[in-house]
Amino acid sequence: PSPPHIPPPRHSRGISDDWPGYSLDLFTYPQHYYEDLDYVLIPHGIIVDRTECLAKGIMQDIGDNNIVVLCVLKGGYKFCADLVEHIKTLIRNSERSISVKVDFVRLKSYHNDQSTQDMQIIGGDDLSKLTGKDIIGTGRTMKALLNNIDKYKPKMIKVASLLVKRTSQPDGYRPDYYGFEIPNLFVVGYALDYNEHFRDLNHICVINDNGKGKYEV
Ligand code: IMP
Ligand code: MG
Repeated sequence: PSPPHIPPPRHSRGISDDWPGYSLDLFTYPQHYYEDLDYVLIPHGIIVDRTECLAKGIMQDIGDNNIVVLCVLKGGYKFCADLVEHIKTLIRNSERSISVKVDFVRLKSYHNDQSTQDMQIIGGDDLSKLTGKDIIGTGRTMKALLNNIDKYKPKMIKVASLLVKRTSQPDGYRPDYYGFEIPNLFVVGYALDYNEHFRDLNHICVINDNGKGKYEV
C-alpha cells in the first residue's frame, strides 16, 4: 500500500506579507500603548513555544560541547533569557553534562526606525559559541559582531535570532537558527524597542503612525 499523502504545511515560520496579524483586542497589553499599535504580529505564547523548539534544535547540534551564550542587549534579552531557560531544562533532563555560561554585549546602530552605518559594540569579555539575538534586519549588525568575535577563534559559533526580516537590501546574512521570518515592517515588543519604548510589551507588534510620531526623537 502507498504511504498516506501528507499535505504541505499551510503555516511555516515564514510570516507572509499579507498576514493580517491578530487584533489587539484579543490580548492584554500596557495601557500607555493603547493608541500606538496597529496589530499583534506574534503573540507572546507563540514566541515562547517557538523558542523551545529552537532550543531543542541547538541541543541536538551542540554535541558534548560546553556553551557560552553571548546575549546581544538590549533587544535580545527576552529571547536570550527564554532560550537559555529551555536549554537548561533540556540539559538537566538529559544524560549529558554541559555547562552554560552567559555573557552580554550591547550594540547600537538604529536611529528611529532606520539602520545607520556606524555600529558600536560595548562590553563582552568572553569568546562565544552561541549568540542570541532579537532580530536580524539588514544583517549589518550581526556581520559586524561576528567579525569581532572571530578574533577569539572560538571552536564553534552558532547564531540564533528570533526574527529575520525580509528587507529590501539584505546583506545576505542568515543565522544558524531563527524563529520566524517576518515582512519588512518595524516591529516592537518582547524587548524590541522604538527609541527605548515598547520593551515592556510582551507580544511582538506592529507600531502605527501615532506611535511612531509620539516617540520620535
Ligand atoms: P540590522 O543591522 O539591520 O540587521 O539590525 C539589527 C538590529 O537593529 C537589531 O538587533 C535591532 O536592535 C534593530 N532592529 C532592526 N529591525 C528592528 C525592528 O523592526 N524593531 C526594533 N528593532 C529593530
Ligand atoms: Mg533598538
